[in-house]
Amino acid sequence: MQSMVALVLALLLLLALDGEVASSMDDGQFAYQGFGAARLMLDDAIVTPSGLLMLAQTKCHAFHPTPLSFHKNSTATMNTTVVARSFSTSFVFAIVGKYDGLSSYGLAFVIAPTTNLSTMNSGPYMGLLNTTNGTVNNHVLAVELDTIMNTDNHVGIDVNSLMSRQAKPAGYYADEDGTFRDLRLNSYKPMQVWADYDSQTKQLNVTLSPVQVPKPKNPLLSEAIDLSTIMADIMYVGFSSSAGISLMTRHYVLGWSFSLDGPTPPLDFSKLPILPRVGPKPRSKVFDAVLPMATAFLATALLTAIFFFFWHQRRFAEVREDWEDEFGPHRFVYKDLFLATDGFKDRNLLGIGGFGRVYKGVLPTANLEIAVKRVSHDSRQGVREFIAEVVSIGRLRHRNIVQLLGYCRRKGELLLVYDYMENGSLDKYLHIKNGPTLYWFERCKIIKGVMSSLLYLHEDWEKLVVHRDVKASNVLLDSQMNGRLGDFGLARLYDHGTVAKTTHVVGTMGYLAPELVCTGKATPFTDMFAFGIFLLEVTCGRRPISIDENNNQVLLVDWVLEHHRNGSILDVVDPRLTGNFNKNEVTLLLKLGLMCSHPSPNTRPTMRKVIHYMDGDQPAPDLSPTYMSYSMMMSMHNEGFDSYVTVCPQSEASICTVSGDSSASIFLEGR
Ligand SMILES: *[C@@H]1O[C@H](CO)[C@@H](O)[C@H](O)[C@H]1NC(C)=O
Ligand SMILES: *[C@@H]1O[C@H](CO)[C@@H](O)[C@H](O)[C@H]1NC(C)=O
Ligand SMILES: *[C@@H]1O[C@H](CO)[C@@H](O)[C@H](O)[C@H]1NC(C)=O
Ligand SMILES: *[C@@H]1O[C@H](CO)[C@@H](O)[C@H](O)[C@H]1NC(C)=O
Ligand SMILES: *[C@@H]1O[C@H](CO)[C@@H](O)[C@H](O)[C@H]1NC(C)=O
Ligand SMILES: *[C@@H]1O[C@H](CO)[C@@H](O)[C@H](O)[C@H]1NC(C)=O
Repeated sequence: MQSMVALVLALLLLLALDGEVASSMDDGQFAYQGFGAARLMLDDAIVTPSGLLMLAQTKCHAFHPTPLSFHKNSTATMNTTVVARSFSTSFVFAIVGKYDGLSSYGLAFVIAPTTNLSTMNSGPYMGLLNTTNGTVNNHVLAVELDTIMNTDNHVGIDVNSLMSRQAKPAGYYADEDGTFRDLRLNSYKPMQVWADYDSQTKQLNVTLSPVQVPKPKNPLLSEAIDLSTIMADIMYVGFSSSAGISLMTRHYVLGWSFSLDGPTPPLDFSKLPILPRVGPKPRSKVFDAVLPMATAFLATALLTAIFFFFWHQRRFAEVREDWEDEFGPHRFVYKDLFLATDGFKDRNLLGIGGFGRVYKGVLPTANLEIAVKRVSHDSRQGVREFIAEVVSIGRLRHRNIVQLLGYCRRKGELLLVYDYMENGSLDKYLHIKNGPTLYWFERCKIIKGVMSSLLYLHEDWEKLVVHRDVKASNVLLDSQMNGRLGDFGLARLYDHGTVAKTTHVVGTMGYLAPELVCTGKATPFTDMFAFGIFLLEVTCGRRPISIDENNNQVLLVDWVLEHHRNGSILDVVDPRLTGNFNKNEVTLLLKLGLMCSHPSPNTRPTMRKVIHYMDGDQPAPDLSPTYMSYSMMMSMHNEGFDSYVTVCPQSEASICTVSGDSSASIFLEGR
């Protein structure tokens, strides 16, 4: 509890430090609200960490570092004479002794020609002068706050010696009724002193008041004095004190302002440092006051800690089951992903796909850039199979596949972690008006990459993988603009040779093979259909389904086919290529695109075959007449996507989600 009190006090001190401002100029005007930043010339005086000027040694002084010129030439008479300039100063002080009522000799505001007062006496003379009548050569003016000498607890004006020219008991004349109110200088209550000299009226006023009382109109002391002979031209201003009997006595100055030729700038009490707690008596009082506060503080801290604990638990809660142990290394901790993506902040959002949002992140331990996809899912259904698939997919290794690094599960949510692809998805280079575009050779390289990845999935890996969602927006570009097939969140795995059994048709409208819509069975052939559409999309720079000027839906494949039939196949090439392409390559790719998107699955070439055609190992065959007629029949019925459904009326497929947007994903519930 003691340390808690200390903590609270330390906090208060810190706050006090914060408000401390000092300004100092050489034009004879300055204000110190606390002395932390002041560069006073100190002689055994110290500035405390909280910014208090403390004078507590046997003999100590503190002066404003720059000397001030107190002389000016008077032109009031024909003869030029030197007179002392007007000045005004105010300061807040507090004096405390170890025992109430017993303190040392006091504190004085001093104007002296030197800061080296070491020759001057200590002890009862406030480190300044002694009681002998001074000479004019001393050039010292002091306003003393005496707590032991003479009448004890008085305020005096001293010139050249400590024999006060005028002194009065400490107090002030209240503005309300003009009555005199006593003040105890060593009460440790902060008080403010003003000293104002007017060179015209040759009058020096000294005023004292508690800090909460504004400057009283009537000064405590008003002395008629011409400072012209007393002041040297160059003088220093500061404070002096001495502590003799009890070294426990401390004189604090909290703030100080000074001005030549004008009124002193007012002190901002809110910026003054806080006085430290001193002595046993005030301590117990303070303790009594602080104890309930500290208790409340502790209780609040405890409650906050408990709240934070549960909040933390909830915030980073995951779902983890025993069977997941085998997938160990692929499992990510949610907190890591949360931190990596900066709490899934919107500024890290890479895109919103059909299945969830994708965020960019950096895993700090590995300094690895990642993309995190948050997929909503019903946690009770087929998670285990799904995770098994995810982990299997994580084992896929191909330079044209976006590497899946692992997953994390939360309630109703699955997070998939992928390698981050610097150049984003391909579709933004194809379909964004005035957006970035790609040269023909870049498109070719990307297409070849996708071919290579599909060959790997369909034939070269240990299991047959049907991607089920081949499309431009699922092709991502790495830093070298290589095309990489991504988003295997939808892919299903099949053991080689077994008949595919699925209950859901998942894919994207425009890329769905007719038989997929009818039967709901995804096969490598359905992937090849989507790939064919993808080839046309990349070559033509058009979406699979678009709207023409008559507001009719136009299937890209029909449009290309029509141009092919009319012998104007090169007219379909993306105009953004501005004719810069290899005609043979373009013609071949368009032809392959049409072959792959053949309505009949068995007529479509396999990926291996497509690659043979591409490499020129085998000349591409002409499109079969059946394809032409079949497709023409489709075209006749063509009302966009509906045509597919018309072709297979036996289908019990029901469309759950269909959006007019050609890139929208659809889910079909089949048998
Ligand atoms: C006063 O006048 C004297 C002589 O003219 C000049 O040297 C001195 O600098 C002047 N002092 C001030 C403070 O103007
Ligand atoms: C001005 O100076 C002259 C000679 O130095 C002196 O006689 C005269 O009294 C002075 N005038 C005043 C107003 O001081
Ligand atoms: C202060 O004055 C004394 C006596 O004149 C001298 O010995 C001492 O060096 C001076 N100190 C400084 C800092 O000038
Ligand atoms: C007072 O100080 C002066 C020098 O400033 C010194 O000559 C004198 O002896 C001192 N008197 C006492 C009583 O200390
Ligand atoms: C000091 O000066 C005053 C007059 O200003 C005089 O009455 C007193 O006797 C003097 N004291 C000493 C010690 O010279
Ligand atoms: C000193 O106080 C008197 C009132 O007692 C006032 O008239 C006078 O202007 C004051 N002088 C200064 C320099 O503040």
